[in-house]
Parts: sequence; structure tokens; C-alpha cells
Amino acid sequence: MIELAPSILSADFARLGQQAQAAVDGGATVLHLDVMDGHFVPNLTIGPAVVASLRKLSKVAFDCHLMVQRPDEFIPAFAEAGADWISVHQEACVHLDRTLHLIASHGCKPGVVINPATPLHTLDEVLPLVHHVLVMSVNPGFGGQTFIHSSLKKMEQLRQIRESRGLLFRIEVDGGVNHDTVTDIARAGAEILVAGSAIFEQGDPRENARHLLESARSVASDSTQSVSSVAAI
Ligand code: DX5
Ligand code: ZN
Repeated sequence: MIELAPSILSADFARLGQQAQAAVDGGATVLHLDVMDGHFVPNLTIGPAVVASLRKLSKVAFDCHLMVQRPDEFIPAFAEAGADWISVHQEACVHLDRTLHLIASHGCKPGVVINPATPLHTLDEVLPLVHHVLVMSVNPGFGGQTFIHSSLKKMEQLRQIRESRGLLFRIEVDGGVNHDTVTDIARAGAEILVAGSAIFEQGDPRENARHLLESARSVASDSTQSVSSVAAI
């Protein structure tokens, strides 16, 4: 089942709770919270206090995407603030295995993120440890960037690796997910779609969420139908 995880990065922060709720009303089942430190990426965003405030308003899963150097120092605070999932960048972690165990030890689902320039094989050893793999389809730091098409191949390969190794991680995509790209993304096998500007930049977040999810799910159900018709032959 494809899920939508709106990224609040493009929301109006003066009306954050309201906008997040609108996206949930439109069918989003996860909220994607982008944490940036001005070092790992050239931008600054939110800290644990914002996560804790939103936690009081919403029951959906909170997906904290840490774009920070030395994430181990911040994991306990985000877990305490109410994060359900915490993902860290392969590129930011010297001891990635230790960091993923640290996330799990705080009661959160660990995820690993890879940048567009990072090859998939760098995740070989940690795939059995993670709840999700987040494929960056833009260089992290900002909303509203153009989708990098080579990331589709990574999603397809992850799906194959998961099957051949009998693993359970979910495949998430982040960056440039919108009406023009969602069909290819759903076909490539992504199951959790992060979308910021497509949800919050214009119009009503509720309707935007509903439309995007509908397009993604129609592709997914098409592929199920074509698989079952092949099976029937
Ligand atoms: C970028 C962030 C994304 C961002 C996506 O570094 O990780 O979550 O909000 O924004 P869009 O969907 O506008 O590309
Ligand atoms: Zn993100």
C-alpha cells in the first residue's frame, strides 16, 4: 500500500498544525519532518520543540529525517519529542550500524537515507537493520527542486534486493515528488512518498494530498491488475 508523507518544510509555519492536519485529512498517514543543521546541508529548520508541539495535535506516524552532522547527539531528544521513525544519512554517519541501533534503542523505527550521488551498495550491510530506506531524489537542503531521474533505478534495485534477500524494509522517496513524477515513482516501487511543495505551496493541502495519493495508488493498482492478468494466462 502506497502512503503519503507530506513534508512540512513547504508549509506555512504560522499555521503549521492546521496545514499538517489538512494534509492528513486528505489521506496522508505519515508526517515527514525535515531537520537541518546548517552544516550537513546549507539550511536550518526545526528542532525537537516543533516535533513535540505537533505531537500534541496529531496521531499519525512522525517521520524525522535528520540532515545533521553527528546525529547520535540528537536522536534521544527527537525520540523524546515524539518521533516514530528516525532516519539518518549514510553520508553523515561514521558508525552507521551503531547509530541505527541507537535509534531502535530509543523505541523508534530506524531508517537510512542516501543522497543522489551515493551508490546503493554502501547500504548492503545495514539493510537487515532498517525499517525504511529513504532514497533522496534531490540533493537535500531545500524544497521545490527538480526530481533526479537516476533515483528511479535505485528504487527498482531496492525492490529486487529486498525480494532476493528476503528483507522487510520499506522504500521511501524524497524530493521532487509531484503530479509529473508520481507515476514513474510508483512504478519504480516506492511505497512512502514524501512531498512538500506539491502539497503545501499552492491551493488546499487536503485536496493536493488527495489527488497525489490517488494518482500514485492508481498506478499501483494498475500494476497489480496487470500482474494478476498475467498470472491468469
Ligand atoms: C529536502 C527535504 C524534503 C523536501 C522535499 O532536503 O528532505 O523533504 O521538503 O520537498 P519537495 O517535495 O518540494 O521536493
Ligand atoms: Zn526530507
